[in-house]
Amino acid sequence: MRLTSQEHAAMSAVRILLEDQVLRLTLARPEKKNALTGAMYEALAGALVRAESDPQVHVVLFDAEGDSFSAGNDLTEFAAVASGAIEPSALKVRTFLDALATATLPYVAAVQGAAVGIGTTLLLHCDLVYLGEDAQLSTPFVNLALVPEAASSVLLPERIGHARAFALFALGETLDAQRAVELGLANAVLPSHTVREHALAQAKALAKRPVGALRATKQLMRDAAAIRAVMAREIEMFSERLRSEEALTAFKAFAARKRD
Ligand code: COA
Repeated sequence: MRLTSQEHAAMSAVRILLEDQVLRLTLARPEKKNALTGAMYEALAGALVRAESDPQVHVVLFDAEGDSFSAGNDLTEFAAVASGAIEPSALKVRTFLDALATATLPYVAAVQGAAVGIGTTLLLHCDLVYLGEDAQLSTPFVNLALVPEAASSVLLPERIGHARAFALFALGETLDAQRAVELGLANAVLPSHTVREHALAQAKALAKRPVGALRATKQLMRDAAAIRAVMAREIEMFSERLRSEEALTAFKAFAARKRD
């Protein structure tokens, strides 16, 4: 697969590997709990878009190195937008979201430890989700003075009901692995040290199924146009919130928390 120069720059933080028709996208910034930067979104989006027209790819697997799946968007980049240093478009998240919305390839995820913000909302676009027993899913957007993204404002309440989804968004409640499976957000809980291996085996098993039928099934199960419309609405409100005084205060509080 040919990579752009920006994707090369993000290579160390996103590993891309094709194995047995499974395109494995590994978040590899463990020292920052796999917080996602603009360069990482670009690398992921590029890989997802190319995969859709690559006959060698039948399944996409998301996994992560270290003790956390992802701490969500990089908060220093959010802070740069909030302070006016960069434009919201510099976050580069839009093409990644678009790729998720329009995906027809089946997505599998392996999640250990913390999955915050988009680390959890990404899972709403995955077709098989395996959680390590230490997985903690959270979407504390309101605590950060933000709003839900990745169509989670609709997809999450659809899955788990309005009241539970609101508590996750607005109170910052966390779901442990067992509860996430009970609520239908994931398929199974595995010992954390085996979850990536298990998800890879499942992805390879899936890749052996008739790929045309796999893709058609996924398409039937999702309304891509509706998902894109929700994302567009969210992005507008998210960008507005991101530039609010209250968001800047929240990001400063995160930075200060590190120094305490
Ligand atoms: N953006 C940028 N850096 C982040 C980050 C994020 N979202 N999440 C964690 N990091 C960094 C920390 O600043 C720290 O960096 P440092 O070692 O240079 O100080 C490093 O990753 C380790 O994080 P730390 O908070 O010390 O680890 P922890 O195990 O105590 O807690 C989390 C892990 C994920 C619970 C915690 O880091 C957290 O809450 N992160 C913010 C999550 C968030 O609000 N994301 C945005 C959602 S929209």
